[in-house]
Amino acid sequence: MLRRTSETLARPRRPPGPRRVRGSEEGPVVGDLTAACSVLCPSQHRTGGGQVLKTAEEKGSKFAVRCGGHNANPFFSSIDGSGILIDVSELNTLELGKDGVLQMGAGNRWGDVYKFLEGKHQTPIGGRQNDVGVSGYLLGGGMPAFPALYGFGADQVRNFEVALADGTIINANEKENSDLWQALKGGGPNFGIVTRFDIQTYPAIKAQFTVNMYDPSDYVNIMRATAELQQAMESDPKLGAFVYVTSKGIIAGLFYAEWAKERPKAFNTFFDLKSLVATAVPTTNGTMKDLVAAIGAGANNPPSRRQYASQGSKVSANLYIKVYRLYQEIVDKYGEAVELSYSLQPAPTAAIKHGEKLGGNIMGLEEVPQTWWAFVSQWTDPANDTLAQRAIDELYQGMQKISREEDQWLDFIFMNEGKSTQDVLASYGEANLQKMKKVQARYDPKEVFQHLQNDGYLLRKVGQC
Ligand SMILES: Cc1cc2nc3c(=O)[nH]c(=O)nc-3n(C[C@H](O)[C@H](O)[C@H](O)COP(=O)(O)OP(=O)(O)OC[C@H]3O[C@@H](n4cnc5c(N)ncnc54)[C@H](O)[C@@H]3O)c2cc1C
Ligand SMILES: *[C@@H]1O[C@H](CO)[C@@H](O)[C@H](O)[C@H]1NC(C)=O
Ligand SMILES: *[C@@H]1O[C@H](CO)[C@@H](O)[C@H](O)[C@H]1NC(C)=O
Repeated sequence: MLRRTSETLARPRRPPGPRRVRGSEEGPVVGDLTAACSVLCPSQHRTGGGQVLKTAEEKGSKFAVRCGGHNANPFFSSIDGSGILIDVSELNTLELGKDGVLQMGAGNRWGDVYKFLEGKHQTPIGGRQNDVGVSGYLLGGGMPAFPALYGFGADQVRNFEVALADGTIINANEKENSDLWQALKGGGPNFGIVTRFDIQTYPAIKAQFTVNMYDPSDYVNIMRATAELQQAMESDPKLGAFVYVTSKGIIAGLFYAEWAKERPKAFNTFFDLKSLVATAVPTTNGTMKDLVAAIGAGANNPPSRRQYASQGSKVSANLYIKVYRLYQEIVDKYGEAVELSYSLQPAPTAAIKHGEKLGGNIMGLEEVPQTWWAFVSQWTDPANDTLAQRAIDELYQGMQKISREEDQWLDFIFMNEGKSTQDVLASYGEANLQKMKKVQARYDPKEVFQHLQNDGYLLRKVGQC
């Protein structure tokens, strides 16, 4: 039977974010949300997920599926006392095959995967933060530190082991159930509960990384340098980067997939900028585990409430500069109550081409150099929930408007950093949407994942966002 338990509280918790009262449109809500009933799938019973689903279906109970619990959207991987929380975190086996394919229980977090593989001199195309769950990351596409090298996280999945709504467990790969295989590469929680991911790993990447901090008053030059670096990434797949804009400073993470003797020329502009005020991480030769640890070190003690929103665009210094100005206006307007920030994440053409070669994902990415924007609003006081939502909406919607005006628009919205009100699945394009609907009808004909699953980027919600 289902246990009334607080077991999930004992493990690392999702980062606190705004919570929504069901039925309330405005949103954000007080306090934390804990499922009264939760069911864990012990590693001995990978079929547990299937059995719980069957029970949920028979009883018509609502459920939510949680891996790392990192998704900041209320109710995407949580549920109140009326439903079942299916927490897969006990599915934490890791087994590396001779072919470099890692069989990974769906409950792992990237930190454990990096640790496991480091001793074996292999690298996964994983998240840039140790706590992030493998499931949400891979089902949402997965942006790694070096996307141009091998593609996105989801592209690396050779096989998904999936518990379907009727309780059966099947495999989805290039040969078996290949329609489901493709749909799961970016299609999120619509088709089943993944119990195991078999991912391609690669010989250990020798990562060279630096994190620099800049005076934001120099934003024009910093934004130009960013667009210039993205152009350079088109011809050198070893380059990786992010630019993170905060009200206190602009941070650039500059990565190279080789222990270069001399700094790659593509980074020179960033090092020559007069606005370089501090080095958070001096240039270091290390492993991927070291790189991820170095990025994570800067992310301590975030305010307790958080909301993301995302949008893709083409690469354009003018767009970046105009959005920065808008950001400044919004920050000035909202003051201390809300901490707004955003990152520019390069998604080079090579990454998109790798995805196609590896069998194709469902995200409908155009073959152009692009930027995946991630906007974040963070705050502490529940009294400021509405304000914080308004601030992030003004920012990402403003960016969308400018990117249309500047002719730099791309439809794509990155699921992993999306806001619940964004129509992520529709952003993949009509053909992919129809593919996903077909797959959903074939593998979940009773629409259990659409109607009993608490929330998430669900096909039934497309067009309503
Ligand atoms: C600090 C931080 C750093 C991040 N860094 C990155 C990054 O580098 N790259 C990147 O791409 N993203 C990154 N993200 C975003 C992250 O990938 C997403 O938040 C992702 O959804 C988290 O996955 P999770 O398993 O931890 O989350 P969860 O909240 O547990 O799950 C997310 C979604 O997946 C569903 N789900 C979970 N497990 C399963 C399963 N086994 N089967 C079916 N559905 C399932 C849930 O129901 C939910 O809808 C970061 C987020 C944070 C907070
Ligand atoms: C990184 O390794 C290369 C090759 O061994 C070396 O030439 C370079 O000086 C190293 N860089 C740093 C910052 O340690
Ligand atoms: C909430 O916002 C108000 C201004 O609207 C501000 O005075 C207050 O300090 C904020 N609370 C926190 C904790 O930031």
